Order: sequence, then structure tokens, then C-alpha cells
Amino acid sequence: MSKLYLVIFFSIIVGIIATSPVPIIQKTFDSIFTEKDYFMLKVIPLALVALYFLKAVLMYAQNLIMFGISWELVVQFREKLFAHIHRLPFGFFEENETGKLISRINNDVAIMQSTITRLLKEFLQNSVTLTGLMIWVFYLKWDWALMALIVFPVMIFPVSNIGRKLKKFSHKGQEILGNINATVLESFSGVKIVRAFGLEPRELKKFQRHNDDYLKVMKKNVKYVEMTSPFLEVLGVASSAFILWYGGSQVLSGEISQGTFLAFIVALFMMYTPIRVLFKIIASIQTSLAGAERVFEILDLPEEKVREGQKELIDFKGKIEFQDVCFRYPSRSKTVLDKINLTVNKSEVIAIVGMSGAGKTTLVDLLFRFFDVTSGKILIDGEDIQNFRLSSLRSHLALVTQETFLFNDTIFNNIAFGKEGDSTREEILGAAKAAHVDYFVENIDEGYETLIGERGVKLSGGQKQRIAIARAILRNAPILILDEATSALDSESEKLVQDALHNLMEHRTSFVIAHRLSTIKHANRILVMDDGKIVESGTHQSLLASSGLYQKYYNMQFIDLEDQNRVRPDKDAV
Ligand SMILES: Nc1ncnc2c1ncn2[C@@H]1O[C@H](COP(=O)(O)OP(=O)(O)OP(=O)(O)O)[C@@H](O)[C@H]1O
Ligand SMILES: [Mg+2]
Repeated sequence: MSKLYLVIFFSIIVGIIATSPVPIIQKTFDSIFTEKDYFMLKVIPLALVALYFLKAVLMYAQNLIMFGISWELVVQFREKLFAHIHRLPFGFFEENETGKLISRINNDVAIMQSTITRLLKEFLQNSVTLTGLMIWVFYLKWDWALMALIVFPVMIFPVSNIGRKLKKFSHKGQEILGNINATVLESFSGVKIVRAFGLEPRELKKFQRHNDDYLKVMKKNVKYVEMTSPFLEVLGVASSAFILWYGGSQVLSGEISQGTFLAFIVALFMMYTPIRVLFKIIASIQTSLAGAERVFEILDLPEEKVREGQKELIDFKGKIEFQDVCFRYPSRSKTVLDKINLTVNKSEVIAIVGMSGAGKTTLVDLLFRFFDVTSGKILIDGEDIQNFRLSSLRSHLALVTQETFLFNDTIFNNIAFGKEGDSTREEILGAAKAAHVDYFVENIDEGYETLIGERGVKLSGGQKQRIAIARAILRNAPILILDEATSALDSESEKLVQDALHNLMEHRTSFVIAHRLSTIKHANRILVMDDGKIVESGTHQSLLASSGLYQKYYNMQFIDLEDQNRVRPDKDAV
């Protein structure tokens, strides 16, 4: 804060020094030329150099401090935004594209920065200079000053109008920049599909469209921004010209000294620069208000409205109950889960099967409280999960999802992320071995230190899945959730990984979602879901015997296999 005062103080001094040519000119004319003062002839040039040297030093110091402050602010705002976005509910990400968020964090914060700097430095300094010059002209000749400055109010109206326009353009421009970012991100992260389907022209067109929009906005913007200076200049010169004629005639008639006249005219001309800068700043404040509005639009969004409980989940006994759980996504009207009742005991392996879109993933997501139930309750050890602290609840859960997400880091670190705090190298390698990661790592040059690229692009689907499984194994959480965790593995590796998972599941409560029924045969209980409801439940044997949906699915997969076996010889024959 004291730094800020220093900047303000420097600005005032610099602003005052900037008005010094006015008295200097008056003195030069009236003392040196008229009175032939040889002493002043030496003093005045020296004083001028000394003053401007001081000004230069102060300005440099001021810039150093001020840019420091404004960059610190930018960094703080970026961090604040980033952290805030991480606390926003899941629904936020469904509505805001990542590219646009990147744009807010980068561009919008940056244009806020430019104004903070200008406000702190140029605005203050130029206001002081302008005030100083005003005082000078009134001191030199107040009646001329009144005449010359009558144009002032005329300037204000159009310029404030321009400011409003600029704000609108800025909003638009920033929004389009967001679109450009989003397009780039989507296009390059989906580069494989883009090329495979020949979508390059479509992507290029989309990109060009946004770029053209941006160009249009910027061209309009520049039309208004660059209008202020010439407008002000013409007005300024007009009033100076008037004084030149009016004051000039008074000098000729001997009423006023040459020095006063010249100093007055110089002061008037010098006023033009601070006025121009001040008006520009007023206009640019509007631009950056637009940026600030976009930043605060997000900062003002309420953080995750989860009623976070205070309780710690300790001494987990392993009982999980769903009581009349109904759920619907906030963005949709359709009920996705309908009156789910389910009790799972410790060490049970619950398999969930059902058609795509039946609500299996949603059901297990609710355990993490990614979303909250619309009605009903989920209890762990008899306590509503909403009463636990989120981090405490989530630390008891390990998840391997349908889409594996890996960070652009080494294989080793991607496994290590599984557990908070430090794990020993042995633990990490142990988890890797159990998930059969070591099997393919041996064949990569850099082994566990291999960087795997953005989202793990340098690995095969099955390899990624095994790393994700190793991560879950390392986490060693009492509740394990596998959502199509082994779908990308070949039957051989799947069997090996399944064995590892079986060992892991032994003392845990597990939910296993799988389309391939062969992988869940050994579950303690199989739930069959259809359209948001649990329609059947039982063991593999009992469900097969009851000739319901499960039997139908089973037969379909079985027949598929038969078909494949039959088709092959036919193909050979053709
Ligand atoms: N974020 C979301 N917002 C709105 N609706 C969603 C969202 N996620 C899923 N849905 C809808 O909820 C229903 C259940 O989806 P869910 O992902 O639970 O199905 P699933 O049983 O896991 O299917 P799959 O076997 O294909 O993974 C689907 O109709 C889906 O369209
Ligand atoms: Mg799913």
C-alpha cells in the first residue's frame, strides 16, 4: 500500500514538472530578453535540464512500481478465477466451453490490467499537469483563460458517448475472442476425427467466421477510438487561434508583455496533450470495465452450493444405502433415476448392467456428490452423505471411469496422483504391477519416466485404462467404483487385470459397471437397470434362471459370439 502512495506522490511531482516550461518561457522573455539578465540566461537552461532529469528518474521509478503492482493484481485475479471455477458446480462446465474460460482467464484479466496501470499513472499525472496549466493560464490572464476554456463543456458530451460505444465493442470483441479460443481448442484436440472425416474446411470456415467477426468489431472500435484526438485538436487550436488574435492585439497596444503572451499561448497548446490523454483514458476505462464485468460475472457465481457437512467419515464400516433416490439433471426435465432403493454391505461386489443411457454412471456419480439427489437419500454407515465433508467423503472413493483422463506427465506421476500425500516408490510400482502397467512400460524407452502427451495421446486405449486402474489401486480406498474400467482391454489382459481387481475388491465395497457380462459373472449381486429403475437383481445364476432382461442380454451376447464364429468360415469361403 505504501508503494501505491509513492506512485501517487511521484505522479504529482512529474505532473507539476511538466508544467514548468510555462514560467520558464515567461521568464526568458521578460527577464532575459527585455531586461538583459545574463545571470538568468545561465540559470534557466540549467534549471530546465535538472528538472527534466528529475522527471525522467521519477517516471522510471514510478513505472517500475506501478507495473509491479498491476501485474501482481493480474496474477491474483487469474488465480482467484481459476480457484473459483474449480469450486463451481458441474453444471457450469456443461454450459461454458473450456476455450471461452481460457479467454476469460487470459484476455479479460489482461485488459483489466492495462486500465489499472493507466489509472494509477497517466490519469493522475495528466490531471495534475492539466490542473497546473489551468492555474498558470488563470494566473497569467484570467479573462483570456475564461474565453479560451469556454469550449471545454462542448468536448465532454461526444467523448462520453464514444466511451459507451467502446464498452459495447469491447464486450463483443472479448466474447468473440472466447469463441476463437474455443474453436482452436476443439479443433486441435479433436484433430484425428477432424482429419478422418475431412472436416478441415468446416473447421477453417468456423475459425474464419469468428475471425471476421472480430475484425469487424475492431474496425468499428478503431473508428471511434481515433475520433477523439482530431476532434479535440481542432477545438483546441480554434480556441488558441482566437487568443492569438485577441491577445496579440493587446500585446501590440502594449497592455500585456510579450513574455506573458507567449507563456499563455504555450500553456494553451500544452493543455492539448493531457486533455487528449485523459479523454482516451476515460474511453479505455469503458473497454476495461467490459473486461472486468466478464471477470466478475464468473467470480460472482455462487460457489458450489453443496451443503457441505462438518462430519468426517472415519471408521468406515462399509454399508451404503440408497433410499428412494430420484434424480434429474438440472439442465433436463427427464427423470434419470427413479426411486432407487439399494443396500450394499461391506465387501460386496455389486455389478450394474443395463442398456446405454439407463442411468448406471449417474447412479455411481451421486456417491461422489458430483450432483446431489433430487429426492431421497444416500447413506453411508447410516449417515446421509450430505453431512460429510466433501473431501472426507471423496477420499473414501476410488473411481475408474469410462473415459480415462490422464495428465501430460510421466506414467509414474500419473499413477502417483491417485493418492493424496506421498506414496513410496514401492507402493506406486506395486500398483503399476497389479494393473499390469509394467507389462507395456518395459517396452518403452524411458519406462515409467515417459511423458504421455496431452490426455495421454501417446498411449493406446488399453494402456491408458491400465494406468487409470493402477491409480485407483494405489488410492486404496474402501469403496471402489469401476465404470467400464476394462472395456478397452483384450480378453487376456482383462482377465489378468480382473484378477488384480479381485484381490483389491476383497475387503472393499465395489460397484462394477460393465457391458461385457463375462466380466461380472462373479459379482455378489447383479443389478439390471432399465430407464432409471432397478428392474432385476440377483446373482448371475438366479437372474439367468428368471428369464428376464438379464437373460435376454446374456443370450444376445452369447449369440453374437456364436455368430462371429459362424461368420468366419463363410468369409473364408467367399
Ligand atoms: N450431464 C448431463 N446432463 C444432462 N443429462 C445427462 C448428463 N449426463 C447424462 N445424462 C443423461 O442421463 C441419462 C443416463 O446417463 P448415464 O450416463 O447415467 O447412462 P449409462 O447407463 O451410464 O449409459 P452408458 O452405458 O452408455 O454409459 C442419459 O439419458 C443421458 O442422456
Ligand atoms: Mg455410463
